[in-house]
Amino acid sequence: MIEKGNDRYIKDIEKYLKDSLIETDKASTIDELEKIYYQYLGRKGKITYILRSLSSLPKDKRPLVGKKANEASKRIEKFVNEKKNNLKKKVVEKVLKEEIDITLPGRQLQLGKLHLITKTINEIVDIFIGMGYKVAEGPEVESDYYNFEALNIPPDHPARTLQDTLFITDKMPLRTHTSPVQIRFMERNKPPIYIISPGRVYRRDNIDPTHSPVFTQFEGLVVDRGISMAHLKATLEVFAEKVFGEGTKVRLLPSYFPYTEPSAEVLVQCQECMGKGCSVCTRSGWIEILGSGMVHPYVLENVGIDSEEYTGFAFGMGVERIAMLKYKISDMRLFFENDLRFLKQF
Ligand code: DAH
Repeated sequence: MIEKGNDRYIKDIEKYLKDSLIETDKASTIDELEKIYYQYLGRKGKITYILRSLSSLPKDKRPLVGKKANEASKRIEKFVNEKKNNLKKKVVEKVLKEEIDITLPGRQLQLGKLHLITKTINEIVDIFIGMGYKVAEGPEVESDYYNFEALNIPPDHPARTLQDTLFITDKMPLRTHTSPVQIRFMERNKPPIYIISPGRVYRRDNIDPTHSPVFTQFEGLVVDRGISMAHLKATLEVFAEKVFGEGTKVRLLPSYFPYTEPSAEVLVQCQECMGKGCSVCTRSGWIEILGSGMVHPYVLENVGIDSEEYTGFAFGMGVERIAMLKYKISDMRLFFENDLRFLKQF
C-alpha cells in the first residue's frame, strides 16, 4: 500500500491527516467518528501502519517520519474527540429543548391502596389464622342444595323469604350467604375442621344506608370432638377484642337459624357510646354483629359426619357492618360508590 520512499511516507501522512480531518468534519454520528478513528488509528489503521513500519526505514529518516506520524495521530485523535463531544452535547441540547425537561420535578405516581372492605377482610382473616383456622372459598353462583337444602332450609321454609335473591335458573341462586361453604368444605374434609370463608353474597334487598343487594360476609366453622357453646363464645370474645379493642364485651342472645341449634345472635358493645346507649344502638348499648350457633345435627348428617362423635359451632357476619362500626361509617353505600374522597381516608 505504501511506497517505500521516505518522501512518500511524509506525503501519505499529510494526505491521511487531511482526509481524516475532512471526514471527521463531515461525520454526523458517533458511529461514523468511531469508524474514522479505527481507519487511521486503530490496530490496522493507516497511521498505525506507518508507525509500525518505521524500523524498515533508514535510521536517519526514522525520527522525522516518526515525529510526523505521531503529530498526525494526536491531531486526528483530538479532532475526532472534539467532534464526538460536540455531537453528544447537541443530542442533550435537543432532548432538553424539545422532548423532556429533565429539570422539572418528577410526576408523582398514584399509589393504589386496598379498599376498606378488603382491608377489613384481611384483618379478620389474620385474627382467625392466628387461632389456627384455614381459609376456604366457594362459588357465588350456588346451587339451591348448598345454599338452602343442605343447611336444613327445605323449599317451603319461611327462612327463605328473608333471603330472597337473584336466580340464574330455578335451582341456581346467587348465594345469599357464605354458609354453603360450610357444606362444601365438610363434604370434602373430615374433622377436625377450623375454617373461615369470606366472600360476596346477594339478596333481593333495596339499597339504603344499611342494606345492599350485594354485600360481603365472613363465615366461620369449627367441627371437632367436644366443641361446646363455651368455645363459640370465647372465640367471638377474642375476635371482638382484636377488632374493636381490648375489653370489648360481647353478648349472646337466643335466636333462630335452621342450620344451628341452639342459635345465638351476637352483640358487641356499641362502639359509638361504648355501651351507654345512644341513637346508633337505639339506646340499648349493644349492636348485633353476627349470627351463630352450634351446628345442627341434621347438617352434620347431611355431609356424613357422625353427630354423636362430633359437634361444632358456626357463625356468619357482615363485613360492611364490622367496618361501619369500627370506622364509624354511617352509610353502607359509601363502600360501593367508589368516591375516592371517601376511599382514600382508610
Ligand atoms: N347465614 C346467616 C346470615 O346470612 C348468618 C349465620 C348465622 C351464619 C348462623 C352461621 C350461623 O354460620 O351459624 O344471616
